[in-house]
Amino acid sequence: MIITEGLTRKFKDLVAVEGLDLEVEEGEVFGFLGPNGAGKTTTVRMLAALIAPTSGRAVVAGYQLGKENQKIREVVGVLTESPGLYGRLSAYQNLEFFARLYGVRARAGQVEKYLRMLDLWDRRDEPVGRFSKGLQQKVALARALIHEPRVLFLDEPTAGLDPEAAKLVRDFIEELAKEERRTIFLCTHNLSEAERLCDRIGLIKQRLIKVGTPEELKGELYGRRTVIQLKSLPPAVEAEIGRLPFVEGLQADGNKLILTLAQPESQNPLIVRRLVELGGEVQWVQKMEHTLEEVYLDLVKEGE
Ligand SMILES: Nc1ncnc2c1ncn2[C@@H]1O[C@H](COP(=O)(O)OP(=O)(O)O)[C@@H](O)[C@H]1O
Ligand SMILES: [Mg+2]
Repeated sequence: MIITEGLTRKFKDLVAVEGLDLEVEEGEVFGFLGPNGAGKTTTVRMLAALIAPTSGRAVVAGYQLGKENQKIREVVGVLTESPGLYGRLSAYQNLEFFARLYGVRARAGQVEKYLRMLDLWDRRDEPVGRFSKGLQQKVALARALIHEPRVLFLDEPTAGLDPEAAKLVRDFIEELAKEERRTIFLCTHNLSEAERLCDRIGLIKQRLIKVGTPEELKGELYGRRTVIQLKSLPPAVEAEIGRLPFVEGLQADGNKLILTLAQPESQNPLIVRRLVELGGEVQWVQKMEHTLEEVYLDLVKEGE
């Protein structure tokens, strides 16, 4: 649904985005994760045909960036960092206005659909200027969706919202993500948000540092580890386990063994069986979890 090749944008001598190679599938929620100034907004503005790349190519929903920009603008929806609504107009009037701008047919029905989906129907006639930030963000989301875009770009959709409003917006994105044909490109510097909402995540800092599912990102850097707690851990038992050919890493911590394994699902049972043969009393077998935050900080540091 989105393909980029060497996509680059410079601002004078500052390289905001460098050599971006990316593929986002239809129906996917793709997280674009990076610190402030990493080039996320610049990427979205390029892909939505709002600014031109300095070099490189991109195809969005089958249309070539640069050659078919008008088509691209018709099939994408963008939620920018500021809501971009008319404060004096009501929620209904705002959506009606943007629906007209996009040439949406059956406007009334579309406006009603999104106002209802976002629980704003009862407040449709209030000026959005009086709404809380969270409610304004919901109207802005409805605005980005009113023409049923095939690709939805969400640029930091929960930034600056209080936790309750952020939750409302996240829950709504989760709902949208269930629609199979809608592709969502979500920029965020919020790790738990990316982990919760995204099928895959690309880490960016000017260049693309890494792409993978949240699980892959967590697994790849650290290997996958199993923690086994025994009633007691004699050194001979530890040495025996270390001799198993598929054990890639082994650490002992008190009565716990921490193992790095490539395929824990099939290897854990073998290890437990060996431990029992050696007379070990297994109390707990656990998966060692890494937070995406650890991975992120590491990779961003590496990217420098
Ligand atoms: N219009 C612009 N003119 C000059 N520099 C810009 C402009 N837009 C963005 N930049 C710079 O490009 C870099 C990337 O910015 P941006 O894409 O907004 O990052 P992010 O959205 O990840 O925080 C930053 O260093 C920013 O200052
Ligand atoms: Mg930004």
